[in-house]
Amino acid sequence: MNFYPKEIGARFYAIRNSGKAERTNAVGTGASFTCGSFVRFYLEIDIETKEIKEAKFKSNGCGFALAAADVLLDKIKNKRLNELHGANNDELKREIEAALGSFEISRRHCLEICLDALHRSLNDFRSFQIEEFQGEKALICTCFGVAEETVERLIAGENAESVEEIGKLCNAGTGCGSCQFLIQELIDIHWLENPY
Ligand code: FES
Repeated sequence: MNFYPKEIGARFYAIRNSGKAERTNAVGTGASFTCGSFVRFYLEIDIETKEIKEAKFKSNGCGFALAAADVLLDKIKNKRLNELHGANNDELKREIEAALGSFEISRRHCLEICLDALHRSLNDFRSFQIEEFQGEKALICTCFGVAEETVERLIAGENAESVEEIGKLCNAGTGCGSCQFLIQELIDIHWLENPY
């Protein structure tokens, strides 16, 4: 008798991404109080190109968590941060469930700790970028090292009116997505002070 649903079991017995990346510069852990499981992601992100060159995980979790972590890392590996399109949790959940089948309510936390691990590793990478940054004004998008003055210049110079437009112009907001509300704020302020 199979303990796991078919797709979960198949992935669990053929995990590809367990272990630890050698040159990790982004580490993040998701943990569940429901069952005591954790998933830790180890990413190696190229500083220049922002490509996720390696992605591994360690976990003490069940087959559901291991399968979800493995699929998620396959999805992000070899992608540039701007190809994550803000790492939206609902979209990522849909992609994981498309590969593994739907996670029932009692197993949702297995999937959610993987998403937490991803966001925390991207946060870790952003902290590293902040430490490296040497600019006059605040850094708005730490995934791509884009300063506030750059975003302001693009809003004024290119008449950018949306976060998506700024993303197309300089990548800001297209990685982990956590800076999107700051970009929106700069857009709102600019157009409030400079109405057509
Ligand atoms: S800080 Fe991650 S996309 Fe801007």
